[in-house]
Amino acid sequence: MNSKKEHLKVQAPDKWMNGWDNYHKKLLEGSDEQYKNLTFITQPVQVIGMKIYGKGECLKALDLGCGDGRYACFLAKLGCKVHAIDALESAIEVTSRRAKVLGLEKQVIAKQKNIDDWTLEPESYDIIVAVQVLQYLFDRAIPRLKEIAAAIKPGGMVAYSGNIPPHFKTDPPMKFIYEEELREVFKGWTLLSVGRDERLRRPDDLRGYVWIVAQKAGEEEK
Ligand SMILES: C[S@@+](CC[C@H](N)C(=O)[O-])C[C@H]1O[C@@H](n2cnc3c(N)ncnc32)[C@H](O)[C@@H]1O
Repeated sequence: MNSKKEHLKVQAPDKWMNGWDNYHKKLLEGSDEQYKNLTFITQPVQVIGMKIYGKGECLKALDLGCGDGRYACFLAKLGCKVHAIDALESAIEVTSRRAKVLGLEKQVIAKQKNIDDWTLEPESYDIIVAVQVLQYLFDRAIPRLKEIAAAIKPGGMVAYSGNIPPHFKTDPPMKFIYEEELREVFKGWTLLSVGRDERLRRPDDLRGYVWIVAQKAGEEEK
């Protein structure tokens, strides 16, 4: 099947979606063994992991733009029931296979969907992860982040990460959400972690990142 037909029409251009599709397809060619590797878990998701580790609660989590499913499986291993969403069929296949290899298939429900095409019910999730994906909604990025914030139950948490300058020029231009804008969205929440860094991905490709992990006020914190 032509890879272009395997993803839903989303705001991000096909050339970007095809790049992620190729990455997932390479993973699909690999052995089950490599799926057990959950070592690269980005800082904001680790912060959530540290908060829920050993609590033994079944928390309801949503992983938006789940990609290769590392974060969905990481949270499932810690006892969460995770809805993992991605526009690419290949991402859903990789995520489902990773969950199966790790014996987490009952806890990870992966679905092919646009992360911006349904109503997020208020106070419906304990945890929402939006790592390196909201920026691909462009003008809808901040409005969707506000809907994500509203969808968190009292005491629940959001882990966000996205790019900021420096960043190579893209067409269409990358949507940057700056730290001040993130702090505004999560005003009144407890900020568990706020950070930024620059990573040299390749020679001449230095990229800026900003993240926030915020916890909503609630009688019972997670
Ligand atoms: C940069 S990757 C990040 C993957 C993962 N969150 C991570 O940090 O490893 C972006 C992912 O978002 C997905 N994506 C982009 N726009 C999307 C949309 N509107 N709806 C659903 N998924 C989308 C892509 O298919 C890709 O898997």
